Amino acid sequence: MEQEIEISPLRIGDEVPRFIARSTQGPLDLADYRGKWLILFSHPADFTPVCTSEFVALARAADKFAQLDCAMVGLSVDSLYSHLAWIRMIYDMAGVRVTFPIVEDPSMEIARAFGMIGSDAHDASSIRVTFFIDPEGILRASTCYPANVGRSVPEMLRLVAALQRVSGGDALAPADWEPGRDLLRVPRETAADVLKPEASADWFFKTMKDEG
Ligand code: BEZ
Repeated sequence: MEQEIEISPLRIGDEVPRFIARSTQGPLDLADYRGKWLILFSHPADFTPVCTSEFVALARAADKFAQLDCAMVGLSVDSLYSHLAWIRMIYDMAGVRVTFPIVEDPSMEIARAFGMIGSDAHDASSIRVTFFIDPEGILRASTCYPANVGRSVPEMLRLVAALQRVSGGDALAPADWEPGRDLLRVPRETAADVLKPEASADWFFKTMKDEG
């Protein structure tokens, strides 16, 4: 890794740190992902059961992420050669090609910069962190799962779609929102509006059609 990066956990709204690293698709510069949505996710270790199930599920859903114009980048402490041997094993075992890059992070420098592990951790086999990064390189959501529970690919897809739909600031995505379902309107009323005799008590909870 060539870029110096600050060691601090990221918060929603932060610009994510740039890094350059080796990956299964060749050298990877995070700056090259500007202009598109990106899921950057860590996994505890190659050749482990839950991680393997996640990679099979993510590889099978590659078309769905592509439809959202959302790239994926995996990352772990394992070496590039381990990543390559693992995706070959996944291909032999499940018949799926992992075509998104998997970054090697042997020093855990990237994982620490992104808060994927504790800054004082001695190994990286702790948690599954997922960052949802917008086309301007801003962190829009993150999730953190333990090593013994795999992530939900449908929820990752839903979250990307929801973040994209609300990114203009005109709509809100309610609980369990899926593309095509009604959204919620951003309330912009003032006291003068809500105190009008004809105003209803549910002025703050108005739906709108998903025309995105
Ligand atoms: C797994 O992916 O199965 C796993 C990884 C690290 C610790 C425990 C389980």
